[in-house]
Amino acid sequence: MTRPPAAGARPPMAVVTGAARGLGLHTAHELCLRGYRTLCVVRDPAAAPALRAVLGTLAHPVVADVRDAAVGRDVAEIVGGAAVDLLVHNAGVAHPPSVLGELRADDVLDSFVTHCLGPLRLTQALLPALRRARHATVVHVSSRRGSFARAARDDGPGARHYAYRIGKASQNMLSLSLRQELAGADIRVVAVHPGSLRTAMGTRDAADDPATAAADLVRLVLTDPRRRLPPFVERAGDPHPW
Ligand SMILES: NC(=O)c1ccc[n+]([C@@H]2O[C@H](COP(=O)([O-])OP(=O)(O)OC[C@H]3O[C@@H](n4cnc5c(N)ncnc54)[C@H](OP(=O)(O)O)[C@@H]3O)[C@@H](O)[C@H]2O)c1
Repeated sequence: MTRPPAAGARPPMAVVTGAARGLGLHTAHELCLRGYRTLCVVRDPAAAPALRAVLGTLAHPVVADVRDAAVGRDVAEIVGGAAVDLLVHNAGVAHPPSVLGELRADDVLDSFVTHCLGPLRLTQALLPALRRARHATVVHVSSRRGSFARAARDDGPGARHYAYRIGKASQNMLSLSLRQELAGADIRVVAVHPGSLRTAMGTRDAADDPATAAADLVRLVLTDPRRRLPPFVERAGDPHPW
């Protein structure tokens, strides 16, 4: 496990999107506990003061919407010349499932922008900061619903999750492409299915505690930043099918 930095040393830095609640909030909490200066991207300005009160002085709220084209510039400005050791693309949205006749095409676009284009822009803008770190990691909090293998087996109500499935499948392809390009730059990229979480987005029968999921996720990526991980994993590190 990465130790908290020694006195006087530069604290490692993390960026977590969608940190106002759910898995993102717990992930930011875990990172602050481990001594990470954590930029918490939240879209509601009212969430920012409470976040600092809950997470402490290592947490730095950044008010930004990941769908905004300026999100990368805004976060990169705050990072300045520092290194980013860990970037967690966690912000996510699940539009209501619907049949084709009622599907809103704008929901599909919104899901694509939230889960794929936003993370792409943010990673692009933070690339110099990721390069400055030793062994940086980029995590895409993905979903089993973005898996073609899983979707092909699910002929039940899952088939109605057009927007979410398409958004998460796009995010998976982004993750794989970044992984292949950035491997030579010592930047590890991984997509993670975090489990079925008891959060606002979770299903009624969700089994997993988001605090436990965040602790597992952080352990997975911080235990050994040089460890090669499969490209798409469950949060304990087991490979997830594409
Ligand atoms: N819950 C599950 O069972 C499950 C399963 C698989 C994968 N996941 C993935 O896990 C991640 C976290 O989900 P969760 O369960 O913690 O859901 P959640 O409790 O609904 O939290 C989602 C977070 O994302 C933020 N967000 C959404 N759109 C955003 C945007 N455009 N810009 C900035 N922030 C935005 C929300 O901010 P606001 O507070 O402003 O709305 C909220 O903080 C998501 O990527 C989700 O797809 C969840």
